[in-house]
Amino acid sequence: MSRHEKWFAPNGGMSTVTGFISPRAARTISAILTHQMQTPIQGSLAEIGTFLGKTFIGLALAAKPGEHVVGLDIFEADVGQKLVASLKLALPGDTASHVRVAKRDSTTVTPAEWMRLLGEPARFVHIDGDHTYEAVLSDIQLATTYLVDGAVVVIDDFLHEWYPDVTEGIIDAIRVSKNLFPVAVIPRTGSVMGGGTKLVCTTPGVIEDCFALLQSALPGTTFRDCKIAGKPAKAFFNYD
Ligand SMILES: C[S@@+](CC[C@H](N)C(=O)[O-])C[C@H]1O[C@@H](n2cnc3c(N)ncnc32)[C@H](O)[C@@H]1O
Repeated sequence: MSRHEKWFAPNGGMSTVTGFISPRAARTISAILTHQMQTPIQGSLAEIGTFLGKTFIGLALAAKPGEHVVGLDIFEADVGQKLVASLKLALPGDTASHVRVAKRDSTTVTPAEWMRLLGEPARFVHIDGDHTYEAVLSDIQLATTYLVDGAVVVIDDFLHEWYPDVTEGIIDAIRVSKNLFPVAVIPRTGSVMGGGTKLVCTTPGVIEDCFALLQSALPGTTFRDCKIAGKPAKAFFNYD
């Protein structure tokens, strides 16, 4: 088991950090990162909305040599200090030198700043920041400005009952994007407070491969063809 797999495993490292990621989402993200580790894809990893690091630390553990891992958050109260402390525990010694954490409102980050923060185009981005229509639209558009071919963008809280505006922002961003396509809806497991449904997206040319990976990560699950923002996608059934 690699380090990020141990982190995202049931009762793994992530269970020591407060935050929001459902077991099925953790399994999905872990499988995507494992696949990327086994292929030559190279690039930065980023999260908008790290909170205390439940997902972010897993990304940090999945970096290949020379890659940067970048987390943005407005860090209210002592969230930033707690994140840094958890990062030190999970990434002891100087192995965390590839990790950059920035106290920023992501909606004010320009594409040029995003490129500077990331250093190299991203191979994995998790979007989980401000939960408004405008912010989600802006965050997805920011993420799409700097992606490698084959990058995966995972967007949180798609179809969330409490955030219909987030769903609308995601759909509008996907509709106008030329380089980001939906792959599949990954329904949450358990209570909504334990983490939301994710929408997995990728760049053109690898959509089928990405779906095959998701299918193998979620054996025994039923899916159907659908369209999201007019683009073909798949939806997994939620038996929970
Ligand atoms: C749902 S939490 C993220 C959960 C986290 N990804 C996890 O795995 O547990 C949302 C985070 O987004 C941050 N946030 C809210 N508005 C933001 C903004 N405009 N820019 C960056 N981060 C923001 C909040 O401070 C909060 O930490």
